[in-house]
Amino acid sequence: MDDEKAKRFLARVGDIYTGAALTLMIDIGFRTGLWEAAANGPATSALLAERAGLEERYVREWLGAVTTGGIVDFDPVSRTYTLPPEHARTLTGDGGSNRAVSAPLLTYLGKHVDSVAAAFRNGGGVPYAAYRPEFTALMDQRFRREYNEWLFNGYIRVVPGLEQRLVSGISACDIGCGTGHNMNLMAAAYPSSTFLGFDIASDAIELARAEAASMGLSNVRFEVQDATALPADLAFDLVTTFDAIHDQANPQAALNEINRCLAPGGVYLMIDIKASSDLANNIGNPLAPYLYAVSTMHCMTVSLAADGAGLGTVWGRELALEMLAKAGLREVEVLDSSNPTNSIYMCRKGGE
Ligand SMILES: C[S@@+](CC[C@H](N)C(=O)[O-])C[C@H]1O[C@@H](n2cnc3c(N)ncnc32)[C@H](O)[C@@H]1O
Repeated sequence: MDDEKAKRFLARVGDIYTGAALTLMIDIGFRTGLWEAAANGPATSALLAERAGLEERYVREWLGAVTTGGIVDFDPVSRTYTLPPEHARTLTGDGGSNRAVSAPLLTYLGKHVDSVAAAFRNGGGVPYAAYRPEFTALMDQRFRREYNEWLFNGYIRVVPGLEQRLVSGISACDIGCGTGHNMNLMAAAYPSSTFLGFDIASDAIELARAEAASMGLSNVRFEVQDATALPADLAFDLVTTFDAIHDQANPQAALNEINRCLAPGGVYLMIDIKASSDLANNIGNPLAPYLYAVSTMHCMTVSLAADGAGLGTVWGRELALEMLAKAGLREVEVLDSSNPTNSIYMCRKGGE
């Protein structure tokens, strides 16, 4: 027994719980607009409460947590609190750099601990239906910001020649499109191209259609559609999936269908989590515990609930390459995106 090691681990567990408690506070700040209000400049608790339209006593207690947690600075003389701009960048705004959006996802997943624990005992999983409609909104508030910041510079312009083809006019499809913000942004930016979004979730498709209508777009459509049984007569120049393969019940069937639905010379961009399939290679990746945990609490269990493959969030590059090849896709290149958590797998239609 190494006493020092035991003490270090005890301290580490304390840090883990403190981080979890602060996650609740980051969520509260996101929901109530306190981060945006704090980013407007130094304030006393009363002024901050007034700015955000909230109860001062609650705001002061919250400030106690986020100040001692190292998120907000406190001046004991003027009794003012400051969210440094370096911290505000990670907790505010409509771009993908706003990581406050992960907090509501984590607190929401906490509601499923009982049912996921039951699946540890009994097998199976917790179905997608149990996560709707909240999960749709949570995905939307995260992915919408990522697309605002990275869709054009982080994904489309990273792929040689793709933007020119979109400007000239091609047909594109996003599978597992969720609320479709990416397709709507692309439809607005490339009016000569046509866009189609597929998802099995009807609530997400309704929101995607509503946004397209509010943007006055006529070159984008959204349909409720299972990726593993796509219609017969499709031929897209571009197919994309954004974090939409690894949680499917039958991801191999979806990849096979994607290859079939590409037009000759068509390109498939699979945007998915950047990790290795081998746990040994993920040790030391600071994001890995988060990814495996989210997988346990959502991505893997929804797939297992449907008697599926249960790949999990961290299915990783080696397995992804194997499955893309099995689907017949060829010339696969793995590119980095501006979003540090994702890789872009650029593939060409195979079997031509
Ligand atoms: C992690 S979310 C990704 C969300 C989406 N790409 C976005 O930008 O918001 C995965 C999506 O895949 C969808 N999905 C899961 N299985 C599917 C299937 N078999 N066919 C079509 N969509 C599926 C889910 O409904 C969900 O919207």
